[in-house]
Amino acid sequence: MSNPWTNPDRLPSDAAQSLAQFINARADIPDQSAAHAALVEALSPRPGERLLDFGCGTGVIARRLAPLVGSTGAVVGVDISAAMLEFARACGGPAQLSYEQNDGAAIPFPDGSFDGAAMARALLHVAHPHEILVELRRVLRPGGRLAILECDWGTVAVDHSDRALTRRILDWRTDTVDGNNWMGRQLVARCLAAGWRVGDIRVLTTIGRDETTTHFGSLRRSGELALQNGIIDQSEHDRWVGELDSRLSTGLFFASINEFILVAGKEEDADFRR
Ligand SMILES: C[S@@+](CC[C@H](N)C(=O)[O-])C[C@H]1O[C@@H](n2cnc3c(N)ncnc32)[C@H](O)[C@@H]1O
Repeated sequence: MSNPWTNPDRLPSDAAQSLAQFINARADIPDQSAAHAALVEALSPRPGERLLDFGCGTGVIARRLAPLVGSTGAVVGVDISAAMLEFARACGGPAQLSYEQNDGAAIPFPDGSFDGAAMARALLHVAHPHEILVELRRVLRPGGRLAILECDWGTVAVDHSDRALTRRILDWRTDTVDGNNWMGRQLVARCLAAGWRVGDIRVLTTIGRDETTTHFGSLRRSGELALQNGIIDQSEHDRWVGELDSRLSTGLFFASINEFILVAGKEEDADFRR
């Protein structure tokens, strides 16, 4: 299946706007806001630093970073999509926050020009993750650090009486829909392959007892997409979604998912392990 996040500008402009509104609003969901705060804490920005937010989308992480580097620092949000960046710029921010359109193949900054970089839920969508990890390493100074937030759909646990049907839908969704949904578990190997030193890794588990948590609105969509793509038939769809709805209305719904925050350093030094 094609992944709209690989380049939102390829979509009709109203669809790209919808994606931008979706991720911008998502940042206010409590579990996502907590994940973003944890990513910023993992990067531990200091006044005067120059930081990059790669795959910045509407700038939700960049806007958190900018006040922390202060007026003597700089935060640059980089994204492939003009539509995302237009939305980000319209959200405003302090003078030290700016945006650049770029696809990561050659980030338009000299070697060693940043102290650190953040990347939130972007690597799973990019066409060339290895090249981007190499490029990010190039633009960081020696001792610079990279903090990555990625979820992993293979860690979704959802309670349902039909285990085989649940596995069929979730495995298909994980393997097929919207990017590389195993990116969370692949971060260590991918960072090592790109020459990074891997430091701290944190796992954040979101437990959903209703559909308000970030990831579980899309369980119903997983069922719909599995039906549209011939993975399940109509009666299987109705049975699967029907039980989820019934559990939601009776308080028996339970789902969880893991997200990972990994901190990597350009050199082996104590600095990036904080
Ligand atoms: C799911 S959004 C995440 C945005 C933001 N980091 C957040 O957490 O809200 C993924 C973003 O990656 C961007 N993206 C995809 N491929 C890219 C590439 N090759 N270079 C730069 N950005 C890319 C998309 O345009 C999109 O804005």
